[in-house]
Amino acid sequence: MTVLEIQRYLPESDQAPRWQRYEVEGEPAWSLIDALGYIKDHVDPTLAWRASCRMGMCGSCGVLVDGVPRLGCEVFLRDLPDRPARIAPLAHLPVERDLMVDTEGYLRRLRAVEPWLQPSDADPVGPVGERLQTPAQQAKYLETAQCIGCMLCYAACPQVAVNEPFLGPAALAAAHRYLSDSRDHGHARRGSVQGLQGVWGCTLVGTCSEACPKGVDPAAAIQREKVRGALSFVPSLFVRGEDD
Ligand code: FES
Repeated sequence: MTVLEIQRYLPESDQAPRWQRYEVEGEPAWSLIDALGYIKDHVDPTLAWRASCRMGMCGSCGVLVDGVPRLGCEVFLRDLPDRPARIAPLAHLPVERDLMVDTEGYLRRLRAVEPWLQPSDADPVGPVGERLQTPAQQAKYLETAQCIGCMLCYAACPQVAVNEPFLGPAALAAAHRYLSDSRDHGHARRGSVQGLQGVWGCTLVGTCSEACPKGVDPAAAIQREKVRGALSFVPSLFVRGEDD
């Protein structure tokens, strides 16, 4: 039998979050999402949580498992400790209900870096209008393109906890993805990336990269953008003004 202590919280009516204990007669191969489904179907229909694909692709099932940000569909009962495991909503994000967090803050940060390809009509295109790129050019952004928007990196980032305007790991990694794309011309529209709320707000703790379930390294992406910003700033020091 697996024992889960799940954080329950309904902001409209509860004074504070509380822990509720559930016993699950599940198979070792069950994922945590399977166990939560069992509880909802057979024990307590009021428990709220979020999941969709159940295969580590949609990014909707992030929770804290004993304080560690994880995808619920990639945690299996066989991996949980013999003692009760504590399941809580992702940290640093407002709780909507129980294990569900409000994603709007994350989406607002993501929108701020305009994470979509902004091509130029002047660039050459292929026979059916495709934007051509070499494998080497693609390799520059392929790792950061693996992000599934699960927000585990936000739950792991100490700067997100204390600096609300900070764009945060996933949004900055998404910015790096497009700023590194040879087909993109949106650099001027992503100026916030080089601000204190952008890459310069990162203190390089690196927990975002440890938390990523897809092998993205947001901490490295952020440092590369710091280098890009610094290199573009240096030439401006040598531009002579009209009065010089
Ligand atoms: Fe889609 Fe877990 S349910 S990533």
